[in-house]
Amino acid sequence: MRSGCVTGSRLLGSGSALPARVLTNADLAEQIDTSDEWIVERTGIRQRHIAGEGETTSTLATAAARAALADAGLEQGDIDLIVLATATPDNTFPATATKVQHALGCNGCIAFDVAAVCSGFLYALTTADSLLTTGAAKRALVIGAETFSRILDWEDRTTCVLFGDGAGAVVLAAPDAANPVAGGGPGVIASRLHADGSCHDLLYVDGGPSTTQTVGHLRMKGREVFRHAVVNLANVLGEVIEDAGISAEDIDWVVPHQANKRILDATAKKLGIPAEKVIVTVDIHANTSAASVPLAFDTARRDGRIKNGDLVMFEAMGGGFTWGASLIRI
Ligand code: UT7
Repeated sequence: MRSGCVTGSRLLGSGSALPARVLTNADLAEQIDTSDEWIVERTGIRQRHIAGEGETTSTLATAAARAALADAGLEQGDIDLIVLATATPDNTFPATATKVQHALGCNGCIAFDVAAVCSGFLYALTTADSLLTTGAAKRALVIGAETFSRILDWEDRTTCVLFGDGAGAVVLAAPDAANPVAGGGPGVIASRLHADGSCHDLLYVDGGPSTTQTVGHLRMKGREVFRHAVVNLANVLGEVIEDAGISAEDIDWVVPHQANKRILDATAKKLGIPAEKVIVTVDIHANTSAASVPLAFDTARRDGRIKNGDLVMFEAMGGGFTWGASLIRI
């Protein structure tokens, strides 16, 4: 938390990337016992992008990072920190962030992955903001990138219809410590992160190097995750609103994790935030885990909805459970 209106790291640009292949609900209904009607009514999802041959978490992340750098008017040499959130790394190790770093050509800078599943972007953003604020780095790429299609059980209709692949990235710059901005300047204002490991079995992957020596598949008790999501998200949004000393009406845009349109609606309603202020991309991207918040943010910036000066709330909840929110003046 930062006192008053003094802001943290500034956001200089954003970018995103999606695989070329689109899989519609109708396509899925040809493969498994589901329907477009059920998926739209229960989730709001109409289609998702699926990575093809040669497309991996690192290639999508690199494309999103390049777009974010171009948007910020920067080059790879200007970056000295890469924090990449993913639950679907190219390899168990090394960190996918190091592959992105090498592909971009900024070898030598700090680069590591963050594992917080669907909340990964919030964890990565808060970690990068902290490192920038302490002076450990000057300009950071914060990336959320996933290829969840590779860990889905395509015969399990309760999970495989919900997820998609993609990547989103933002460029952050360290706050100017000598000239702190008072009175609503751009930058990160307040962030909160949480985790509750007792909920492991409600959303997890049933494999891993140290347990089964396999990659495994995603397993989820959807109804219970849904119930926790609405409560946890409403609580953490309330915390950040209080930390920042604002009221819900002051927020221009909420950019939520895109898991289910019904979760977005229920959370906004609990806080009294009108639906028109909530960015929704779950219909076209489905749930892209750590990529969903930066993907939705970049979509709304590029189509002109989110503008410089807007007060934007990011929020997400996912496996672990983990959840968090971050308030930023663009
Ligand atoms: O990103 C991390 C956070 N993840 C989430 O936030 C996901 C949270 N959960 C959800 O979004 C919802 O719980 C789901 C979309 C996963 C499920 O919606 P629901 O309204 O909770 O449905 P349900 O699981 O209670 O299932 C209702 C029925 C069941 O049939 P019966 O038992 O009532 O006969 C399911 O078998 O719908 C059936 N069903 C399906 N039918 C057609 C489940 N999946 C499908 C499907 N197509 N794909």
